[in-house]
Amino acid sequence: MDVASRTSLPNFTIEPTTTPTDAATREALLAKPVFGRVFTDHMVVVRYSDEKGWHDAKVTARRPLSIDPAASVLHYAQEIFEGMKAYRLETGGIATFRPEANARRFRDSAARMAMADLPEELFVEAVDQLVRIDADWVPHGEGQSLYLRPFMISDDVFLGVKPASEYLFIVIACPVGAYFSGGAVSVWVSEAYTRAAPGGTGAAKCGGNYAASLVAQSEAKAHGCDQVLFLDSRERRFIEEMGGMNVMLLRDDDTLVTPPLTGTILPGITRASILTLAAESGMKVEEVPLDINEVFEGAASGRYREAFACGTAAVVTPIGRFRRTEGEAVFGDGKTSGQVTLKLKTMLTDLQAGRSNDAQGWVHRIL
Ligand code: PLP
Ligand code: COI
Repeated sequence: MDVASRTSLPNFTIEPTTTPTDAATREALLAKPVFGRVFTDHMVVVRYSDEKGWHDAKVTARRPLSIDPAASVLHYAQEIFEGMKAYRLETGGIATFRPEANARRFRDSAARMAMADLPEELFVEAVDQLVRIDADWVPHGEGQSLYLRPFMISDDVFLGVKPASEYLFIVIACPVGAYFSGGAVSVWVSEAYTRAAPGGTGAAKCGGNYAASLVAQSEAKAHGCDQVLFLDSRERRFIEEMGGMNVMLLRDDDTLVTPPLTGTILPGITRASILTLAAESGMKVEEVPLDINEVFEGAASGRYREAFACGTAAVVTPIGRFRRTEGEAVFGDGKTSGQVTLKLKTMLTDLQAGRSNDAQGWVHRIL
């Protein structure tokens, strides 16, 4: 049912906080924000019910939610989210990057989780509203931005297992710097755990996928790695993606390769953007299954020269090594970024910061 697209979009009521963070405290918090620990003063909340569609849209003070213990999200995990960023433009002003792509993916995630359909315009408007009211929280530093977390939860008070008839759509924001502390990351190849199976929820950005990945991420940490890499669930042979980012490799024939979208990995917006930018800059790009054993052999032989993770939080982060029970695949010196990885990162971040020509119209200016 597509109630949302049948009804007109709600107007936002704006209730600014009565206790804004003072400027000196905010500036101190913005100086070196740890990812996801510092939050802005406001949030956006929009309600949904089967009867009313999307209604009661508010920009309001950020505060704890009051939720009934029988709310269905707490039991059956109907929860989806997005991750996107607002950037300060070199020329002044603030913009997000391809927000309509996040809005589209949010609808796809909602459809997979049998949740309410949120119109793309409402998604984009909600994010814009929060960025406008909390604009002072967008940091100025190099590599810093305002991370935006739109999410939806079911809040029906009913313990039967069925899709809820009431939902909350919320947007919160936090100023962030780099997700990783610097240099190339090391990645543990999970042989014990998989992330998603054909027909499952791998392509949806639902909280449950992340819950299921945490034990593998802990295993990665225990092996001294920063992140986990998942293999396909059928053969445990083909590279899928990392816990919170997509993966790309550079082959010695100057081709950028990445696993195809077969329904088990998240269709990353950074992934799609890099594929487009690389192809436009004259590089060959291929979306092909990547056998982990060939990648290990290829790292040793020089067939695979560079590897990197890409995503909103990670931006473009060089991968120094994959590690598994039988050894390591090291890329370059294992510590610093490869040349092509650096070039692609610069192309992407120049565009996001308004330093290069936005030929695709990907930069969505808010202020
Ligand atoms: N894969 C997973 C599992 C993720 O959590 C993310 C981050 O959102 C990505 C890939 C990259 O997606 P995007 O580039 O849209 O942020
Ligand atoms: C993002 O990049 O937006 C994510 O959701 C991934 C997570 C590691 C923060």
